[in-house]
Amino acid sequence: MLNIAVLVSGGGTNLQALLDAESRGGIPGGRIACVISSKPEAYALERAKRAGVATEVLVRKGFATPEEYDAALFSLLDKYDTGLVVMAGFMTIISDRVVQRYPNRIINIHPSLLPSFGGGGFYGLRVHEAALARGVKITGATVHFVNEVCDGGPIILQKAVEVLPEDTPETLQRRVMEQAEWSLLPQAVALFCQGRLRVEGSRVIIRESEEGR
Ligand code: GAR
Repeated sequence: MLNIAVLVSGGGTNLQALLDAESRGGIPGGRIACVISSKPEAYALERAKRAGVATEVLVRKGFATPEEYDAALFSLLDKYDTGLVVMAGFMTIISDRVVQRYPNRIINIHPSLLPSFGGGGFYGLRVHEAALARGVKITGATVHFVNEVCDGGPIILQKAVEVLPEDTPETLQRRVMEQAEWSLLPQAVALFCQGRLRVEGSRVIIRESEEGR
């Protein structure tokens, strides 16, 4: 069984989708071992507690240097014998050291069709504001492996979502979550836990059946 650490910062609806998937047997081979929040007040922590999952809080500003923060993060990930890290609305950028310790073992969900509306400054509602300002007719969500380039890692799954003329950033965010994010993230995590993802350069190959990790 692979232990999954979910990193969160906010409402935790994507975490909820993972918890729900796990409880109905939708993540064979994986279990959510802990939820680590960058904010003590994140509602995601309540969701984890309700599901009986261990919680931890790690605030970046609480550490004098990036090295000390990384060391604290590593010791938490070690404590739960973490085999997969999932960033589910995690708003702290992780360092190259963290990426290199978990090569192709960190998965992130981003609320657009990358490479559009990704990279520094594109997070949460801002992504949807930018999509509306640009006037795109289609947006969506992307689940990808995390590498040293912000939102630039190999893409695992994507799903398109229509933009409607009357959309506000909030209505668009909600539709992208409902129609894409909440199904895409558990699906990608399940594929990983079944050993069905292989990274070749910047591409992810999805194997038809389980062949070992
Ligand atoms: C989600 O839309 C997620 O894709 C986005 O933040 C939201 C978190 O919602 N993540 C990013 O923008 C990362 N760059 P949640 O806390 O309800 O899951």
